Amino acid sequence: MTSRRAVLKSGRIWCSGPCCSRGSAPKSGRTSHRIGGMSRVTGAGGRPPGSGGIANPFSALRPPMSFDALAPYYRWMEMMLAGGALHRCRTAFLDEIPRPERILLLGEGHGRSLVEFCRRFPAAQITCVDASEPMLTQARRHLARQHLPAHQVEFIRADVLDWTPPPGGYDLVATHFFLDCFRPGQLERMTPKIAASLQPRGIWLIADFQAPTGGWRGLRSRLILGLLYVFFRRVTRLPARTLTPPDSLVAQTGLALQRRITIEWGLLHSDWWQKPVA
Ligand SMILES: C[S@@+](CC[C@H](N)C(=O)[O-])C[C@H]1O[C@@H](n2cnc3c(N)ncnc32)[C@H](O)[C@@H]1O
Repeated sequence: MTSRRAVLKSGRIWCSGPCCSRGSAPKSGRTSHRIGGMSRVTGAGGRPPGSGGIANPFSALRPPMSFDALAPYYRWMEMMLAGGALHRCRTAFLDEIPRPERILLLGEGHGRSLVEFCRRFPAAQITCVDASEPMLTQARRHLARQHLPAHQVEFIRADVLDWTPPPGGYDLVATHFFLDCFRPGQLERMTPKIAASLQPRGIWLIADFQAPTGGWRGLRSRLILGLLYVFFRRVTRLPARTLTPPDSLVAQTGLALQRRITIEWGLLHSDWWQKPVA
């Protein structure tokens, strides 16, 4: 699939692929939508490829997913609604993992993980990918506010469903509060690409929501998750309707779960997955 992306590096805008200002004609009956200045190609009928289910003839009319409008408020929303809980999950293993040299942050959003990685691993090269230009702007501002240099970071605006990271290019990937955006079919397409981007012994950190089964914890989590999905689907037009646990898909790629912590009565978890030696 044609990949179009604008790459922002050290304050300069780069274009790669057949980009950027004018879209080329969609191929083979596919339709192309704009996402934050980037094209996203969907399957016939406007359905994202691999999303599963029956094609909805009206979904082509639905504007594409975008976190742009939320970007300026995202940090405050998180602080008001979750305090430090999400950030505890993002940073859970950073003091224990082997020092990474090449880090990939997918769906990084407003840059809270980015700042932590820059602080702790100043010699690492970091690739920070997000579909939302305003989110990437927030991430750059967050770095600047913390007086951290941007030279170790490459910012890439891209739809991760269409973007393929270089195979074996990283020794650490983080997908924090990102996999919950996707439907099962989309996760099925995405997880092998992410796993392939890791070197042997590479680490995949996943912080996200989960729904414990049974009891009052399960009820509480399902209630909170239900409200979150209603909100995010309305405001960002998120493709996912419910949470899909990614565990079995990640395990299918050959990675093994090394550590998991859960907090907030099982609502949040942080995982350390690792690729085998060969
Ligand atoms: C819920 S926010 C999480 C942000 C951040 N990782 C965090 O820890 O809070 C999801 C982020 O993923 C981005 N995103 C959603 N779908 C995407 C896609 N298909 N490709 C790239 N980024 C995407 C959104 O723009 C948004 O910044």
